[in-house]
Amino acid sequence: MSRAKLVAANWKMQKSIAGARSFSERLVAGAADDVACEIVLFPPFFALPFAAEKLKGTSIAVGAQDLFWEKEGAYTGEISAGMIVEAGGTFVIVGHSERRHVIGETNEVIAKKLKAAIEAGLTPVFCVGEKISHREAGEAEQFVGEQLESALSQLSASDLERIIIAYEPVWAIGTGKTATPEDAVEMHRFIRGCLSSRFGSDLSERTRILYGGSVKPENAADLLREKEIDGALVGGASLDVDSFIEIASAAP
Ligand code: 13P
Repeated sequence: MSRAKLVAANWKMQKSIAGARSFSERLVAGAADDVACEIVLFPPFFALPFAAEKLKGTSIAVGAQDLFWEKEGAYTGEISAGMIVEAGGTFVIVGHSERRHVIGETNEVIAKKLKAAIEAGLTPVFCVGEKISHREAGEAEQFVGEQLESALSQLSASDLERIIIAYEPVWAIGTGKTATPEDAVEMHRFIRGCLSSRFGSDLSERTRILYGGSVKPENAADLLREKEIDGALVGGASLDVDSFIEIASAAP
């Protein structure tokens, strides 16, 4: 079955409001002709409404990079799913490796965030990925399998319908090292196998699995032409609008 490709920009803690506005304007102008895939931008939360405003009425969606699982209350510094919706977001990244390994989020926290996102009608992009030590020890699949299972065990089949998965090997993020298309395809097949054993092959075949980790204009076509790779979650190379359009244009 064919799944629509999706290319997303994760700006992390970068760009100003003015930068988000001008990027969005230039993206609309530049992506109209060549880009066949879906596009989602993940600005820092404070810039999200400004990007959303510029992208209103286009097919380009906006999302937040994280959320908190409660609806409201005394949670200093946190952002709820409802706030993301109000700001114009329809997607949210959950469990990014920087949240896991720099901020210290656990699988349990991530499962709660997934649930909260789905309940609010957001589309979560649920990130999994091993560190280099797991890969070198031959434990990459086991590690990713555990990350997946801890979340999937909390979800129903109808929840999974709403989720996009992103495989982001930690050793490839911001390092310039990219997984080869073969390595990425192998892990995507493994992930799809985990989805299939829990929810059946029909649903697993419909679930999109993106690749992230040093995707750039030079390697995007090789990755995106793979049937198993349903799109890309791009960090550094998404900060420049021309480079991001080049990547999105590489999606068949
Ligand atoms: P880079 O593309 O900078 O490696 O970042 C990938 C990433 O973390 C996207 O979420």
